[in-house]
Amino acid sequence: MATTDIREAVAGSGDRFIYLTAALAALNGLLFGFDTGIISGAFLYINDTFTMSPLVEGIVMSGAMAGAALGAAVGGKLADRLGRRRLILIGAVVFFVGSLTMAIAPNVPVLVAGRLIDGVAIGFASIVGPLYISEIAPPKIRGALTSLNQLMVTLGILISYFVNYAFADAGAWRLMLGTGMIPAVVLAVGMVKMPESPRWLYEHGRRDDARAVLERTREGDVDDELAEIEQTVEKQSGTSLRDLLQPWLRPALVVGLGLAVFQQITGINAVIYYAPTILESTGFGSATSILATVGIGVINVLMTVVAIALIDRVGRRLLLLVGIGGMVVTLAVLGVVFYLPGFSGVLGWVATASLMLFVAFFAIGLGPVFWLLISEIYPLSVRGSAMGTVTVANWGANLVVSLAFPLLTANLGKPSTFWLFGVCSLAALAFTYRLVPETKGRSLEAIENDLRENVTDTVATAADESSTTSRE
Ligand code: BGC
Repeated sequence: MATTDIREAVAGSGDRFIYLTAALAALNGLLFGFDTGIISGAFLYINDTFTMSPLVEGIVMSGAMAGAALGAAVGGKLADRLGRRRLILIGAVVFFVGSLTMAIAPNVPVLVAGRLIDGVAIGFASIVGPLYISEIAPPKIRGALTSLNQLMVTLGILISYFVNYAFADAGAWRLMLGTGMIPAVVLAVGMVKMPESPRWLYEHGRRDDARAVLERTREGDVDDELAEIEQTVEKQSGTSLRDLLQPWLRPALVVGLGLAVFQQITGINAVIYYAPTILESTGFGSATSILATVGIGVINVLMTVVAIALIDRVGRRLLLLVGIGGMVVTLAVLGVVFYLPGFSGVLGWVATASLMLFVAFFAIGLGPVFWLLISEIYPLSVRGSAMGTVTVANWGANLVVSLAFPLLTANLGKPSTFWLFGVCSLAALAFTYRLVPETKGRSLEAIENDLRENVTDTVATAADESSTTSRE
């Protein structure tokens, strides 16, 4: 985008420009959530059209997650090289092609190809959505704006439940999967006029463009923030992935990778993907189970809204600690309930309430805070690559848990499986308490400076906060 285009894009669009930009970019999250959620319903009817062996079924199911890991692996580097905005546009096109391919698939190989393509787009979206928003947002509201992306993930999952329901009678799986083309078009059209991230522009020598974007998205003077970006860019030593292994970056890598894996091995997607199955086993009929699943989707959205309202006020650490603590308790209860003999009506309700509370605690902590933190704690020079690495770990762990959950419940039984998730949550709690830094209200450059000075595991000190506040 040339300088004049950027000026045009950022000029005269009113005070809500930053919110509009963030909301449009957060459509990445909507596609991520929708495309991961829609398959559970579509799957019931694909079986009527094509004959699939269990292995092929597994490949169709997990194809998108494998694609997402691939997309995340290359997406980070592409975001650094091509720019955040351009990758969002490419991602929207890939989403469209993936959804179309699945919708018109004449046979299983084409369907799998569609799932893989769609997965690559999900991988791109899972990195570049939070990355772009965090870089364009003012520090004071960065947490809330970046977490809009996670809100859209949860909304996407919920919408997919409704779309599944709407097309269920007709068994129209092609329409279910094809619906993903609509948000892809909205995202592509919406992003055409949005500016590139000021940090990426600055790093690529386009200082005037960076200033123009900052001036449009900040109230008041942008000199301080530009100076901070400049200092950070000057300190950079290189952009290769090997730089990530430099000793001063290691703590941030450990935090990112740890949270990526903990977000998945504590069991969220066992619930999101298998909720109806779990609920049916508590003695509810199919209809009640589906309704309760929608309830879980609604709670996921609502609690993410609560997290967004709190995240820039109470900080990231507190939300994580409370959220994961609650997950430990609800998982322990689930383990006990499934363990008790003579599973009856009351216990069924206790199990359902515990599942809902478990999702609520995830939605207030690990759900949004993981994606936010990994967009904040890496230095600009390696931000895309670092987020790529961490996101690959997240999708890898997601794939393992989703494939393992049916096997675990069949072999270990439900109580042990939930206790296993509970033990993982306890480990996540200890990990967060010891290692996760607070990033609330601080500029991305200040966070990077801390890292350089080896202060990664401190809660933001009052001095840091007040100096940042005065800069804002
Ligand atoms: C996770 C997904 C999960 C979703 C549920 C996201 O933060 O990365 O794996 O399905 O939250 O809301």
